[in-house]
Amino acid sequence: MHALVTRSFFALLMLVISASALAQSANPLLTVEGERGSQSLSLDDLRRRLETREIEVVNPDLGRPVRYLTFSLADVLKLMDAGDADDLVFHCLDGYAANTAAANVAKLDLRLAYGEDGVPERWSAIPTGKTMTDPAPFIVISANTSDSKTFSWPFQMNRIEAVSFARKFPLTLPSGAAADGEVSRGFGVFREQCLKCHSVNLQGGEVGPELNIPKNITEYRSSEFLRQWIHDPSQFRARARMPPTQLTPREIDEVIAYLQYMAGQKHGE
Ligand code: HEC
Repeated sequence: MHALVTRSFFALLMLVISASALAQSANPLLTVEGERGSQSLSLDDLRRRLETREIEVVNPDLGRPVRYLTFSLADVLKLMDAGDADDLVFHCLDGYAANTAAANVAKLDLRLAYGEDGVPERWSAIPTGKTMTDPAPFIVISANTSDSKTFSWPFQMNRIEAVSFARKFPLTLPSGAAADGEVSRGFGVFREQCLKCHSVNLQGGEVGPELNIPKNITEYRSSEFLRQWIHDPSQFRARARMPPTQLTPREIDEVIAYLQYMAGQKHGE
C-alpha cells in the first residue's frame, strides 16, 4: 500500500503520462552505472547470461499474487560490474528515482522482474492515481514477503545507479552520531523513506522542501507538529502532496531526532 500511495502521489506530482513509456520496444535495455563506468545489456543478453527464476509474490501495488519471471538482482549487479557500491538508485521512465541501501538486495531478496506468467515483457497494468501504468520494461520486486513496507517496488525501471552513499550524499550523514543510536536509526529511515523527495543541506530530492538550511525544520516546527505531519500530512492540508507514511511512532521519533541532530551540521548556502 505504501508503495502505491507514494508512487501515485509522485505520479500526480510529476504530471507525467508518458506515451513513449507505453510504447516500449521489444528487447529493452537495462543500464547499470557503477563508479567505474556504465554498461547496458538487452533483456535477451540478460536471459542468455543469467538464470531465470519464476516466483509468485503479492505485488503491493496490485494487492494480489503475480507470477514473475525474474533474475536475482545481485547477479545482475555482479554481471554488469556495479562494484561494491553501498547505495542503489533505481531510475524509472517517469522520472521517479528511488534510493535503497545495497544491503537490501540480500536482505529483501530483491529481484529484477521482466515479465509475468512465463511470458517476457507481459505485464499487468499498475494503478497510479486515476490512471493505469504499464510497468515495462522492468520492476524491481522484493521476494521477501515478511518485509513489504520498507521498499516501494520501482516499476518502469530501466537504469540502476550504483553509488557510494557517502560520496553522493555526504552532507546528509549525521557525522559523529553513535552508530547504533536513535539518530543513526532515524537517518536510516530518512534515507529510505524521505530522501527521494527531501534534501538535507541541499543533497537529496527536490519534490518536497529542503529540511536543514538555512533553518532546520525543527527550529520552526514543533516535535508534536512534526510527529503528526509525518504520520499523515492530509490531516493538515487537503491535497497535501506528501503521502502518509506507515512508520511506527518510534520510527517517526527517530526521524525527528535525526533532523534535530542535523541542525548542528549545516552546510551550504
Ligand atoms: C513523495 C514525496 C515525499 C516523501 C516520500 C516525503 N515527503 Fe515530506 N513533503 C513532501 C512535499 C511535496 C511537501 C510540501 C508540503 C505538501 O504539499 O505536502 C513535504 C513537506 C514536508 C515537511 C514540512 C511540513 C511543514 O509544513 O513544514 C516535513 C517536515 C516533511 N515533509 C518531512 C518528511 C519526512 C520525515 C519524510 C519521510 C518519512 C517525508 N517528508 C517524505 C513530499 C514528500
